[in-house]
Amino acid sequence: MINRYTVIGQPIAHSLSPVVHQLFGDLTQRKVKYTRTEATPETFESIVLDWQRSGAKGCNITAPFKELAVTVCQRMAPNAKRAGSVNTIEMHRDGALVGHNTDGAGLVADIVVNKRRVLKDSRILLLGAGGAARGVIAPLLDAGPTMLHVANRTNAKADTLASLFSDMGPVSASGYEALGDMAAFDVMINATSLSLNGEMPPLPNGLVGSQTLAYDMTYAKQDTVFMSWSRSRGADTSSGLGMLVEQAAESFFIWEGVRPKTRMVYPRLRELLS
Ligand code: ATR
Repeated sequence: MINRYTVIGQPIAHSLSPVVHQLFGDLTQRKVKYTRTEATPETFESIVLDWQRSGAKGCNITAPFKELAVTVCQRMAPNAKRAGSVNTIEMHRDGALVGHNTDGAGLVADIVVNKRRVLKDSRILLLGAGGAARGVIAPLLDAGPTMLHVANRTNAKADTLASLFSDMGPVSASGYEALGDMAAFDVMINATSLSLNGEMPPLPNGLVGSQTLAYDMTYAKQDTVFMSWSRSRGADTSSGLGMLVEQAAESFFIWEGVRPKTRMVYPRLRELLS
């Protein structure tokens, strides 16, 4: 029997998730079929329910539906519940749609295991306060930084996120204008949607130095403007390709009960992106 999965988003044509999951299937000798599904806010819920009725085992949710996905799930894993953001739906055999969020675990695994950065006692700057940012705050705080600062164009959204997670660790918030007074960060993560349009958050110069890892959650063939800007100021940079792979591995584990060896898929993905 083939277990079927899909990724639902808008736009979705360029998602690499099907490639990643097919490679995981091959590596773990599981029969999986993974497709892409385009939705609109109006069709999202019926698409998820139809997918479940068809006997599929699960789906991934990507922009802009991660927050909407919370409303279709009957049960939520603690991390997804706190974040109010779902990137993985498990279609449980008892008939429930169970919401999970594997984005944060994927991001932290990529930074700590693949990029060999120590997050304990580090200073982290998270840019953006939308669905992508929400999902990663708890796992970042779990890693034990001395500071996790959320900066966003709309200050109020950053404030809301900081208060939502304040019992978990040292999380603070501001608009971009307040960043001018801050010392350089060890890790700076771009969770805004700006890179998709080739744009850059309005950042002051002093934020990055040679010790900084500038991490863009977006993955693309070329470096994003955020990555080029950071590199020209001495930072080490990373796209979100590793996060894509690592969060996919967490999803695969939830669905299939087996953890694929992620390092095996990177050469193939780099080939596809080049
Ligand atoms: P996602 O699911 O990708 O996080 P989102 O929830 O729409 O998408 O969030 C997009 C993020 O990019 C937000 O933090 C948004 O800032 P606002 O909360 O102020 O809207 C940020 N963003 C989008 N366009 C931006 C721009 N032109 N300048 C600065 N930030 C921007």
